[in-house]
Amino acid sequence: MATHRPSTDRTSELDSVGIELRQALTRRPRTLPPRWLYDDRGSELFSQITSVPEYYQTETERQILASHSAAIAEITEATTVVELGSGTSDKTRTMLDAFVTHGLIERFVPLDVSEATLLDAADMLVERHPSIEIHPVVGDFTRHLHRLTEVPSNGPRLVLFLGGTIGNFYVEERRAFLGALADVLAPGDWVLLGIDQLKPIDRLIAAYDDDQGITEAFIRNALVHINATYDGDIDVGNFEYVPFWDGRQERIDMRLRACEPMTARLDALDLDVDMAAGEEIRVEISSKFTPSSILSELEEAGFGEQDATGRHVFADPSDDFAVVLARKR
Ligand code: SAH
Ligand code: TRP
Repeated sequence: MATHRPSTDRTSELDSVGIELRQALTRRPRTLPPRWLYDDRGSELFSQITSVPEYYQTETERQILASHSAAIAEITEATTVVELGSGTSDKTRTMLDAFVTHGLIERFVPLDVSEATLLDAADMLVERHPSIEIHPVVGDFTRHLHRLTEVPSNGPRLVLFLGGTIGNFYVEERRAFLGALADVLAPGDWVLLGIDQLKPIDRLIAAYDDDQGITEAFIRNALVHINATYDGDIDVGNFEYVPFWDGRQERIDMRLRACEPMTARLDALDLDVDMAAGEEIRVEISSKFTPSSILSELEEAGFGEQDATGRHVFADPSDDFAVVLARKR
């Protein structure tokens, strides 16, 4: 079946994205929305991160999904599978194989802000799965979840949110996201979240500070992307990469610290950014979970009955990572 033309919501989005960035760079601490990490170069760097030896998450999640996709297809009986922040949909290929074998799936809806990566993935999926409709959506999962209600489904929907991306939200954003997701789903639909589990700090730090410096390049690239988008002159070389473990909040915090005082301008936003030496920009966080902590957040948002029927946890033997499946009540 042919790929639909991707649908976008471009007009007002450019404005709201710019307004959000202006706020991000003027509040204290300055805190970037994750989408700035993922231009074409960022998506390429992220794809390299997934195979550095220190970054165990992608391979571990892939193995969990390979072992349990048939069970997930059977439990959910999903006819529509949605993937938020789908990227290359790399791990999803094998999942879709299991869903096709199970026989109920009709369509797959990947949604991502990174258009080139999304469309490449969609082309690949159309070729691999001619029996299902592939419906890519260029969109922002913090703004455009309502668009999922426009995609028809004759049966239960399953929403995948893999790769530990749920951990890149701040706690309030996470609550808002899960609530918004619950609002667009019907009782009986499902969500599958990939979470990185709490573990000894040295392994966590190493995963975000690899020896080849790819994670550092990925984090720095957010400023390159901002410069390119808003005609800016931020001196990216003036920043030092500072990753650390915040034990109270149980998250890795990835910052860029200005080495020298600096004045920069984002012309297209009509914004001047002045920073003192030592001042930081928080580029990304990556929260760590236990299956029970995320299950209780899901429950609060309206997912998963107390009895075991509406919630399932699949993990690797070392409990490094987990995927948590919960049904909308
Ligand atoms: N799911 C893949 C990719 C994870 S990386 C995996 O498990 O490996 C995070 C993905 O989310 C990237 O593809 C990025 O482009 C996308 N993304 C980041 N912020 C987004 C947003 N606000 N809306 C939609 N996609 C976003
Ligand atoms: N969601 C993944 C994680 O938190 C991927 C990711 C997001 C990431 N930002 C990152 C990986 C920064 C390395 C560096 O791990």
